Parts: sequence; structure tokens; C-alpha cells
Amino acid sequence: MAQNSDRRPLTAPAKRLEAIPPYMFAELERRIEQKAAEGIDVISLGIGDPDTPTFRYVVEAARAAIGDPSTHKYPSNRGRPEFREALADFYMSRFGVEVDAVHEVIPAIGAKECIYNLCFAFMDPGDVALASDPGYPVYTSGPVLAGAEAFLLPMLSRLDFTPDLDAIPAEKLDAARLMFINYPNNPTGAVVPDGFFERVVGLARRHEFLVVHDNAYSETTYDGYVAPSFLATAGAKEVGVEVFSLSKGYNMTGWRCAAILGNPEAIKTYWRLKTNVDSGLFEAIQLAGAAALRGPRKHVNEMCSIYQRRRDLVVDALRSIGVVVDAPRGTIYVWAPVPEGHTSTSFAELVLEEAAVVVSPGSMYGPSGEGYFRISLTTPDQLLTEAVERLRAHLS
Ligand SMILES: Cc1ncc(COP(=O)(O)O)c(C=O)c1O
Repeated sequence: MAQNSDRRPLTAPAKRLEAIPPYMFAELERRIEQKAAEGIDVISLGIGDPDTPTFRYVVEAARAAIGDPSTHKYPSNRGRPEFREALADFYMSRFGVEVDAVHEVIPAIGAKECIYNLCFAFMDPGDVALASDPGYPVYTSGPVLAGAEAFLLPMLSRLDFTPDLDAIPAEKLDAARLMFINYPNNPTGAVVPDGFFERVVGLARRHEFLVVHDNAYSETTYDGYVAPSFLATAGAKEVGVEVFSLSKGYNMTGWRCAAILGNPEAIKTYWRLKTNVDSGLFEAIQLAGAAALRGPRKHVNEMCSIYQRRRDLVVDALRSIGVVVDAPRGTIYVWAPVPEGHTSTSFAELVLEEAAVVVSPGSMYGPSGEGYFRISLTTPDQLLTEAVERLRAHLS
């Protein structure tokens, strides 16, 4: 074979892939495995993956749907009417939002797929995505993989963890095609302050970009807080879409069951991209998703009580070791500032070394996450209690 020194090794990743950091949890998993290999029993409070099973009535619906041969073919990317109609009915009863089940909703293979593919559907090189920082990593990796730019919007604690919309440079607003926002917010646990969605709609109208509201956590809320849909904001459907996921609210992370709702033209463009890259969501899962949304609310409420109890456990423990922390009203995370003298990483390292507990360094979610760490509430009660005891014993 001819030798050519300019050629890259055959396994070298594409430059656009090299431009993004490795997916953060991969590193965390590596560290846990390393500790386990050293015989240390590590408790991970890192990843937000519900520890209890998908609700039984959803599993039963899936079982029946799998037995139905009509679900065995290639799904259409437009989705089964049963799923689209269940989403439209859910959006009306839960959020008071009218959604046309024919033109304003289609399934997604998880919110992650949807957010990633929206970048490819809407962005070209030179375009900008405005992305909350800290934020779910795909808001920044998606645009970069699509050859575009992610412009970070620092989430300011003084503004209740919203970005300062007035501080976005004019040239970034001019180049903006997408804006990613998410409330209840991962990782900060913040809920949307009054008037913020309205201001986002105004900005998007003036600068003509599409708002993508990532609604992954509307169903996991506490202390009686009920999270709104972005689409309930006046004018939102003219400038935006919402990505709704069943992963966290219905304990369905493994099922990859989500949907995009809102602006029909934007959804058509996303559909056009999707028809080129995947073949839709398994229809049995769509039917299970429909059953989940139509099912009794009590299961979701029970999960929220479990998370709320765990949240209180964690917040109390952190306060007892001197961490100043607010109890979040949404998501499945506690977001807290690291003690003085620490960076996010040095504190996470300390917790791992001293207490054999994994917390996520806030900097993993973007530069504005520096100075914070995140604890996920998706660890069974007994283990979480043990983790909390370890924190108390080793970090007081
Ligand atoms: C803000 C946010 N969006 C989306 C997702 C992923 O959702 P899905 O499982 O539907 O891909 C997560 C998962 O942690 C998340 O935190």
C-alpha cells in the first residue's frame, strides 16, 4: 500500500468530532470502574437515570403492543396517530396548550436525538446556536458537529439561573438560528421565573431564530410547583418548538420515547432531516408512550414524592457540612456551590477520594458551571442515605 505521510490514521476521528470533548459521563464511568477495580465501593450520585422501573401499566401496554404485528414494520417518522393524539390530549389537559395532532407533533427517539438533529436541520457553517451554560451537553456539541457555533449564555444565579438576554452580542443574535433553553433546568434545578419565556419569545421574534425549549423535567417537580410548557406562552408557537421526553417523568430512559411539538413548519423541517437519517421510533414504544400519557397521574406523583424526600435528605446533609444550597423545585438534581478554596473538579475529586461518592463537577456542564457540583436523586434510598452519611463523616 502506498505510504502517504499526509494521510491521517485510518481510525482517526473526523475533525468535527475532535472539536468536541468526549461525552462527560464516559470519563465519570471510567473513574468509577477504576475505583471498583481497586476494591473501593463507590456510590455514584452522578448520572440522572431513574432507579425505579417503568410503571407497570406502561410495561403491560408495551407487551400488548409488541404482540400486535402492525407495530413490527418500519415506523413512519410522522408517528402513529395514537401517540400523536395522546400527546395532543396530554398537552391540553396538563398544560392547557392546543396542539394539532396532525401537523404540530411528531415522535422523537429521545430528546437527545431530537436536539442533535435539530442542529442539522437548521444550521449551516457560520450559524449560531444560543445555548444555556451550564446546560445539557448536546446544546453545544450538536451545533459544533453540524459545523456551526454554539454561543454560550451564562445562567446567572442573580437572575434565578436565566441568561441575561440583554447581554447577547448583536452579531450573535444576527447569526442565531436556534436557542436552547430548558426549565425545570438541568443542572441547576431552577424553574422558570415569571416573564422569562415571554421575553424569549420577544427576542426570537425580533431576531428571527427558532427557540427550542427542552422540556425533559416538567413532570418531576416538588413542593406543589407545577411546571408550565413553553408553548403556553403567547406567541411561542410562532417562534418555537418544545421537546417533550418521557424519560424522567415516566421512568422510561431506556425506551427512547419523546416528541417534538409546536411550530408546524419547524417540525416539517425536522421531519425532512429525520427521514434521511433514521427510520422512526418503534411503534410499540409509541403505543406504550401513549398509554403512559393517558395513564393515572398517581404514579408520576408517587415518583415526585420519592424524589422530594431524597432531595430533602441531600439538602439537609449538604447544609450540615456547611454547603449553602437551595432546595430545587424541579428536576432530579441538587445543584450546589463547592466550598471555598475548591474548584468543581477538585471538590468532586475530594468527595471521591475521601467519601467514595461520585458527584458531578459543575464544569462538566459548561464553563459557567464552574464553582458548583451536581447530585442526582436517582439513587435508591438506602444507598443515598449511605452516601449522605459518608459525606457527613468525611467532609464535615
Ligand atoms: C435537559 C435534558 N434534556 C434531555 C435529556 C435527554 O432526554 P432523552 O432521554 O429523552 O434523550 C436529558 C437527560 O438527562 C436532560 O437532562
